[in-house]
Amino acid sequence: MQKKLNKIVKKTNNYLYRYFSDEKNTNLIKPMLYGLLPGGKKVRSKILFDVGSIFGVDKKIILQVAAAVECIHAYSLIHDDLPCMDNDNLRRGKLTTHKKFGESTAILAGNSLLTIAFQILSQKKLNLNEKKKIKLINLLSESSGHTGIAGGQFLDLSYEKIKKNKKQIIDMQIKKTGRLFSFCCVAPIIISGKVKYVEKFNKIGNEIGLLFQIADDLIDLKGKTSRVGKKTRKDLKKGKATLISLLGTNNTIKYADNLKLNMFKSLNIFGEKSKDLKETINYILSRTK
Ligand code: IPE
Ligand code: IPE
Ligand code: MG
Ligand code: MG
Ligand code: MG
Repeated sequence: MQKKLNKIVKKTNNYLYRYFSDEKNTNLIKPMLYGLLPGGKKVRSKILFDVGSIFGVDKKIILQVAAAVECIHAYSLIHDDLPCMDNDNLRRGKLTTHKKFGESTAILAGNSLLTIAFQILSQKKLNLNEKKKIKLINLLSESSGHTGIAGGQFLDLSYEKIKKNKKQIIDMQIKKTGRLFSFCCVAPIIISGKVKYVEKFNKIGNEIGLLFQIADDLIDLKGKTSRVGKKTRKDLKKGKATLISLLGTNNTIKYADNLKLNMFKSLNIFGEKSKDLKETINYILSRTK
């Protein structure tokens, strides 16, 4: 798994370096690149490639979509770390973007990473008919804005130190993390045109995102800052509403395992083709960074 993931890290990073080297050199390029590269596990990109291979999608197109997704993800991390949000100083083993360049620059670099994702998806070089391109852009917008990352981040912050029920926490986590994973599961299907699978993979994507956030919350509780590259043991201090804070560690792990097993069942119809995706889902849950 790690080998396959490393390959994707390399491919995606190379694409992004090339894309940015063709961009006009502005004052924001440096902080944008700082927040974007080279760090990051590229799990979202891996999911895009995994689902892409189930539906036989051209890897070149997947790579471009992956680049767009990683830009949005990097933007969300830059803003997530700001003093007005999680107020973190360490990300991907280095100073957070606002610590390195100042707050206003970090906000603007984040905004610019968000918009460059749509620049990547709408470029002529993306070899896809316009209807499909527009559908991808539409879906990625929904996954990033008030019904997705931004909306979920709003809830995450407003739930601090407030007791919330399981449904509310799951809804918040699916928005802040699940919607982007769902995009990664659905985008290859839109590209392939096999739209009857959209609903199924929309659900699987939300659940993968939820598993991803559960694992992130477990890592916050148990992980070492030196391994994870970001400060751990912060969620409890901040009073973040997580499934762990509500159900306890053991019940949260049970919940996640059960979710995973049901997901695997629903992927069985794809046989051998779903092997890579299942492997990635296992990695997401068992990872330690
Ligand atoms: C961290 O995401 C933020 C969450 C959604 C939990 P990742 O763990 O994917 O961060 P990088 O890209 O590997 O740094
Ligand atoms: C962030 O969740 C989710 C985003 C959409 C950025 P966290 O706040 O738990 O992510 P980390 O732990 O700082 O990476
Ligand atoms: Mg946060
Ligand atoms: Mg955070
Ligand atoms: Mg976290």
